[in-house]
Amino acid sequence: QTKPDKRPPGSGKGTQSPIVKDEYCLCHLATGDMLRAAVTAKTPLGIKAKEAMEKGELVSDDLVIGIIDDALKKPSCQKGFILDGFPRTVVQAKKLDEMLARRGVKVDKVLNFAIDDAILEERITGRWIHPSSGRSYHTKFAPPKVPGVDDVTGESLIQRKDDTAAVLKSRLEAFHKQTKPLGKFIKLNCNSVVAGKVSIGMVIDYYSKLGVVANLHAEKTPQEVTVEVKKALS
Ligand code: AP5
Ligand code: ZN
Repeated sequence: QTKPDKRPPGSGKGTQSPIVKDEYCLCHLATGDMLRAAVTAKTPLGIKAKEAMEKGELVSDDLVIGIIDDALKKPSCQKGFILDGFPRTVVQAKKLDEMLARRGVKVDKVLNFAIDDAILEERITGRWIHPSSGRSYHTKFAPPKVPGVDDVTGESLIQRKDDTAAVLKSRLEAFHKQTKPLGKFIKLNCNSVVAGKVSIGMVIDYYSKLGVVANLHAEKTPQEVTVEVKKALS
């Protein structure tokens, strides 16, 4: 059972994923969280990913495909998994299909959290996270019980380096060009681009054709979004 999701930055995927994970006993694989941990630990992967992440650009397909392939081997992922932030390009989606086919499973559902860009800046700039668990808080929309402190562990919360209005612009640009369908966009993480027309399609198109996309209203409250998520997965 596999449930990847495609959503823009700040749309609530990191907020909803832990709820889905607990409800369906899945593992939660968030490429952004894994990459940030690698950057903090200064591993070879982290050193390669750091610059693109801080600029709000996508890291290379090969790097993220490698970390997902490794993560899918974890015993805790054998009952199913939710992918958060992956796949973000068609190259990644195709590689995911191959990885899943080798394991005899397939994508069950793709959750598309539709939201207006204008809402995202306030969400992103007010976010505080607990890095080791990936839990997200918001000073206004989801405040912790004690400011700056994780509700569960009592450890300090931090702000992400890429959570500024300026870097958000680049992150949204990457999302609109490489993940969301936009008609005539031509920049892709691959070489096959034909005279102003997308030659291999966008991630959401890719999954729409497979009939697995559920469109949600991500501008609603976290609780309302949870209801929609559960309905889409039921
Ligand atoms: P990643 O960590 O995936 O970041 P992102 O896509 O920018 O998404 P966010 O984590 O910002 O958003 P979210 O939807 O999780 O929001 P959250 O629930 O926390 O990726 C970071 C970087 O890593 C990328 O830029 C790229 O460089 C690299 N990367 C990762 N994956 C990659 C891949 N596959 N390929 C290439 N590169 C990759 O919510 C945001 C805030 O809003 C929180 O404060 C929350 O409390 C609040 N909130 C949530 N829901 C609601 C609601 N319904 N109402 C009000 N507030 C809400
Ligand atoms: Zn996230």
